Amino acid sequence: MINPSKPKIWYGGDYNPDQWEKPIWDEDLRMFKLAGIDVATLNVFAWAYNQPNENTYEFGWLDEMMDKLHGDGVGVCLATSTAAHPAWMAAQYPDVLRVDFDGRKRKFGGRHNSCPNSPTYRKYSVLMADRLAERYKNHPALLIWHISNEYGGYCYCDNCAAAFRVWLQERYGSIEVVNRVWNTGFWGHTFYEWNEIVPPSSLNEEWRGHNGRTASNFQGISLDYCRFQSDSLLECYKLEYAAIKQHTPDVPITTNLMGAFKELDYHKWAKHLDVVSWDNYPSLDTPYSYTAMMHDLMRGLKEGQPFMLMEQTPSQQNWQPYNSLKRPGVMRLWSYQAVARGADTVMFFQLRRSVGACEKYHGAVIEHVGHEHTRVFRECAELGAELFKLGDSLLDARVQAKVAILFDWENWWAVELSSGPTVALKYVNELHKYYDSLYQANIAVDVIGVDADFSGYDLVMAPVMYMVKQGIAKRLESYVKDGGKFITTYFSGIVDENDKVVLGGYPGELRKLLGIWAEEIDALLPSQSNSMLMKAGIDGVQKSYLCGMLCDLIHSEGAEVLAEYGEDFYKGMPALTVNRFGAGEAWYVATSPEAAFLQDWLPKLCAESGIEPLLASAPDGVETSLRVKDGQQFLFVMNHNAAASAISLREKSGIDLLTGQELQGDHVLPGRDLWIIKLNA
Ligand code: GLA
Ligand code: ZN
Repeated sequence: MINPSKPKIWYGGDYNPDQWEKPIWDEDLRMFKLAGIDVATLNVFAWAYNQPNENTYEFGWLDEMMDKLHGDGVGVCLATSTAAHPAWMAAQYPDVLRVDFDGRKRKFGGRHNSCPNSPTYRKYSVLMADRLAERYKNHPALLIWHISNEYGGYCYCDNCAAAFRVWLQERYGSIEVVNRVWNTGFWGHTFYEWNEIVPPSSLNEEWRGHNGRTASNFQGISLDYCRFQSDSLLECYKLEYAAIKQHTPDVPITTNLMGAFKELDYHKWAKHLDVVSWDNYPSLDTPYSYTAMMHDLMRGLKEGQPFMLMEQTPSQQNWQPYNSLKRPGVMRLWSYQAVARGADTVMFFQLRRSVGACEKYHGAVIEHVGHEHTRVFRECAELGAELFKLGDSLLDARVQAKVAILFDWENWWAVELSSGPTVALKYVNELHKYYDSLYQANIAVDVIGVDADFSGYDLVMAPVMYMVKQGIAKRLESYVKDGGKFITTYFSGIVDENDKVVLGGYPGELRKLLGIWAEEIDALLPSQSNSMLMKAGIDGVQKSYLCGMLCDLIHSEGAEVLAEYGEDFYKGMPALTVNRFGAGEAWYVATSPEAAFLQDWLPKLCAESGIEPLLASAPDGVETSLRVKDGQQFLFVMNHNAAASAISLREKSGIDLLTGQELQGDHVLPGRDLWIIKLNA
């Protein structure tokens, strides 16, 4: 999405002049210039301002602001303002208000509050998108469209119930099929008529259970409701998208996503986004590798195309329990972390800190003091100047990885709706353990969906692939047969797309590929652990690792046993196996191992498979990533530590794009600093 009028990393963010008196606008623009800001996201929450009643639209402020920004060389990411409906709409058309999980009809207030199946919401949001696109289609400031904002939240109203039934009819055709896939014979749930089906909520099938999870009596029903609500919101997005495209077929359209946001199946959504954008809000104690994984997840939504960092705070959030400041240098470093992993923009929430309501303690480029002599502003301006100097050198460069982790929203929903075997199992955390051990070893990873093409990868990992959708097992088999390497774990291959168990022994459809049978699944108490004894040791040394949470009791059906359990009545049973299958191999990790195991095992397995790390070794807290453009490699080396770190580049050398310094051999990278090394061939 390189825009010829801005061939550089866009720099800017959410700007809400509609919430301010005019005299401040010119001051904003003066300061944007000082900070090197060249893109502003406008109109995100201005619906009430733009449409004071049903029949009146007023865009005077927006006309003026678009012109002003353009005059100053600032492009506009133009939002459609439909993430919070106006008060008159709620008063006149209550169908726009959601019904919550506990069956309560919401009242006006908050945001992200419109029922996605409300005819009123759909009508007026599309009208608004249409009017905006019609009005600004030829405006020279317009760079990209930003539909709504951070879609999310489920609704349980009668309109949603009716639409759910239609959705089910389209998916399953007949009530008999619905009864079969939901296994409604259980607890006498047989449905005779479509209108007997109601949304699963705390009034019937669901409750907020342990560990913040929503538990369900009927996983099949709940799973379909997740799919349906994700689709319903997506439909709202698509309607606005279509309205806009009629006027501006060539202007890209996005909506801002949120990383591993559970409620929406972003793999489905991404197909309808011209470019992926997302909002990154780590807290002080978020592991750097978790943020890295989120960037990789967002990059993977559209086959590795560059994405937009749509929002991050320049300094602090307001909505976390403890809203720490980003330490000096951290905002810059984390901005480059996004760029290193595929972002082509660096954008903030927000440009001016608000004066009232809950976001007044949210950081902004321009702080309450109102002038540019602040630490935060200085850091923003320095970064702005640096991004200007980088020009287009990194734009559209791609990250290349030989390892993929499969991430699947429907599987995530199903795993965590599951009643048993343990509340400790958190899907994203398990994926992150695998991701982290490769991150620490400087091995690049793509995070991709189960529908993606596996053939470009040497290693595909699918921890906790509980749900195996139609066709996946066959695709994995042919991938491994052709020489691919595949790793999966305990609690995999258990159910189909409807959360119905695949009978005949776990791991169901994956059994042949893995050459094992999992007979039972033990859930350990948090205070308990078992151990995995590596039969051949590691590097010739006897080695055992702690493991726990879940232990599958497996039998080999042809797979080689690499580790055995060390304790309990299943001591001596396999804990890690490998099955040679065609030209490739498939591993089964039968339990959740301590991190040390993955840190020892996975990099070794990569080395044996010819998968090279980006740096042979780097100190803890130093992150690497590689972007490639027209055959030119750019190696990012980022030091998250407050203290300097000694780095050995070994055989690699090149010029640091940021300082122009020649780098080769051993160097010291200052704390919270980075290099972007244009590598010599
Ligand atoms: C989200 C929203 C913004 C703002 C920020 C605050 O990302 O999109 O409108 O509320 O959070 O962190
Ligand atoms: Zn609804």
